Amino acid sequence: MKNKIIDIVAGARPNFMKVAALFAVAEKFPSLSLRLVHTGQHYDEAMSDVFFRDLGLPEPSCHLGVGSDSHAVQTAEIMKGYEAWINRSQPDICLVVGDVNSTLACSLVAAKFNIQVAHVEAGLRSFDRTMPEEINRVITDSISDFMFVTESSGLLNLAREGRPSSTIHLVGHVMIDTLLRRLPEAKARAFYSTFAFKAGKYAFVTLHRPSNVDNHKVLTEIVAQIVWLSNIIPVVFALHPRTKKQLQRAGLYSDLQSPPAIQLTEPLSYINALSLTMNAKVVVTDSGGLQEETSALGVPCLTLRDTTERPVTITEGTNTLISGDWELFRRSISQIKENRYLQNISAIPLWDGKAGERILRILEAG
Ligand code: UD1
Repeated sequence: MKNKIIDIVAGARPNFMKVAALFAVAEKFPSLSLRLVHTGQHYDEAMSDVFFRDLGLPEPSCHLGVGSDSHAVQTAEIMKGYEAWINRSQPDICLVVGDVNSTLACSLVAAKFNIQVAHVEAGLRSFDRTMPEEINRVITDSISDFMFVTESSGLLNLAREGRPSSTIHLVGHVMIDTLLRRLPEAKARAFYSTFAFKAGKYAFVTLHRPSNVDNHKVLTEIVAQIVWLSNIIPVVFALHPRTKKQLQRAGLYSDLQSPPAIQLTEPLSYINALSLTMNAKVVVTDSGGLQEETSALGVPCLTLRDTTERPVTITEGTNTLISGDWELFRRSISQIKENRYLQNISAIPLWDGKAGERILRILEAG
C-alpha cells in the first residue's frame, strides 16, 4: 500500500537525467508514490520532450508550462502553478534536484505549506553569488529537511552553514546512476560518426552560462579560441538556445559556421550527448553536469569558468578550470593531444549507480 506521496520536481534539461534515476528504482519502494511535476522551465522539443522519451520518464502528473522569462517572473510563475497543484493534491514530500529556478521555486512553496523538502545535490557551492544557481542552492538548502549530498565538499559547506547533521546524507550522485545505466546504449550509438568523426579524435563543446555567452567581449574571445581549437582537432559544438541567440545577436555565428572543422548542432538528446562525451578527446564546457560526467568517464574536461561548485572533479577527476587563462587552455589542449594531460582519476566515493536507491530508502524511513 502506498503511504507516502513524493512530488519529484523537474524543469530544466539537467534535471531530467537526475530524476530519471529515482523513477528507475521506484518499484523497489512500494510504500512510496512518486509523482513527476514538470515546471516547463525548458519547453523546446530538444530541451525537454526528447529527454522524456530518451530517459523513459513517466508522463508528468502535473505540467506547469511556465516557459522562459526574467528570473523573477519565471520563479513566480512556477511558485503560483505549484501552489495551485499542492492546493489540489498535497504531497508528503517535495523533492527537488540541482540548482535551477524550478528547484528554488517549488521548495519555497512546499516549505510554506509545511511539506517536507528534500534537496538532491545539496551543499554544492561555487561561492560566486553572481551565479543565479548559487543563490538557488543556498536558499534551497536553508529550507530543506533532507539534504542529499553528492561529494564530501557538500558536507563541509552545509556544516559551515549550521545545517543540522541529522538532515544531511552523503548518498552519491543520481546523475551518475543514470549515466551508468545508459552507458551500453550510448556505446552502441557511436553518435560521433554522424559528423564523420573518429572516436577519441574530436573535441565536444557546450556553453550556456550567462557569464560566458551574455557578455560580448567574453563571447568574442571564446569564439576565437574555439576557431583556434578547430585547427588542432575537429570540434562539435552543441548550441543551447541561449547561446545560439547570443551568437547571432553578437554577429559571431558565422565565425563558427564557416570553419570546415567545426560542426554546429542543436541541443542533443541524452544518449547522443553521452555518446559524444564518452568518445571525445576533450570536452570544453561550462556545464556543471559535464564536469562530473567526464570525471566519471575519464575524459579530460576544460571548464570555461572561474569557479566550480564540484571540486571533486578537480581533486579526483579530469577537470581543469580555465578561468579566462587562454595560455592555460592552449597548454592543456596540447597536453591532451599528446596524452600528457595530468588528471587525478580515482573512483569518487559512492558514484556507483546506487544513489537513487539510497535516497528513496532514507525517504521511506524518514
Ligand atoms: C537553465 C538553468 C541552468 C542550467 C541550464 C541548462 C536557471 C537559473 N538556470 O539555464 O542552471 O544549467 O538551464 O540548460 O534555472 N530557451 C529556449 N527553449 C527552451 C529553454 C530555454 O529557447 O526550451 C531559451 C529561453 O528563451 C532563454 C534562454 O534559452 O532565452 C535561457 O533559458 P532559461 O531556462 O531561462 O535558462 P538557461 O540558460 O537554460
